[in-house]
Amino acid sequence: MVRIAVLVSGRGSNLEAIINSIVNKKTNAVIAVVISNVQNALALEIARVNGIKTLFVDPGKHKRREDFDQEIMEIVKKEQATLICLAGFMRVLSKTFIHRFKNRIMNIHPSLLPSFPGLKAQNKALDAGVKFSGCTVHFLDEGVDTGPIICQAVVPVLDDDTVESLSKRILKEEHRIYPLAIQAFIAQRLVCEGRKVFWKNEKKP
Ligand code: GRF
Repeated sequence: MVRIAVLVSGRGSNLEAIINSIVNKKTNAVIAVVISNVQNALALEIARVNGIKTLFVDPGKHKRREDFDQEIMEIVKKEQATLICLAGFMRVLSKTFIHRFKNRIMNIHPSLLPSFPGLKAQNKALDAGVKFSGCTVHFLDEGVDTGPIICQAVVPVLDDDTVESLSKRILKEEHRIYPLAIQAFIAQRLVCEGRKVFWKNEKKP
């Protein structure tokens, strides 16, 4: 069984979607550990309620980003996790960390990348006046939300949308596609060729 480490900082709704997918036997994995850089993140409570091991790694304890990442790296190794899922993890990881787990770190972002990377993606989409937005699951590379795209889901942007209403519509799709992308990885269906990720023997969600 593939062991996953989930990195979180906040609310944890994507974590919950992954947990539900595992419970419903749609994703064949075990969440070995949920690691947070925020001590009181709601996501940690969601993990605990579901009997999953949680760890708080205090960024204030480390002077250098690399040392914080090293601590996470050691936990991942100890927990024998082979996939790392970022689920609302609000920190940039160092190059060393990313290279060490090349194409084994996934992230979910609330826009159709490469449009609107970084923070407040939904605000940026509204400000730009796009008619469609959505979410993207991608592998992590050294840039901010620039890694190889695994899958995307599209939602309409309505004339009367607020950041809240658009975020809600996008989040529903996040919860649908993130577990699917994870399962595709686990089933070894994802083939990476440079910047492109191909789905073997399966239609993209
Ligand atoms: C999601 O919108 C995700 O796309 C972004 O951060 C948010 C995390 O939400 N990276 P949650 O903590 O999973 O509820």
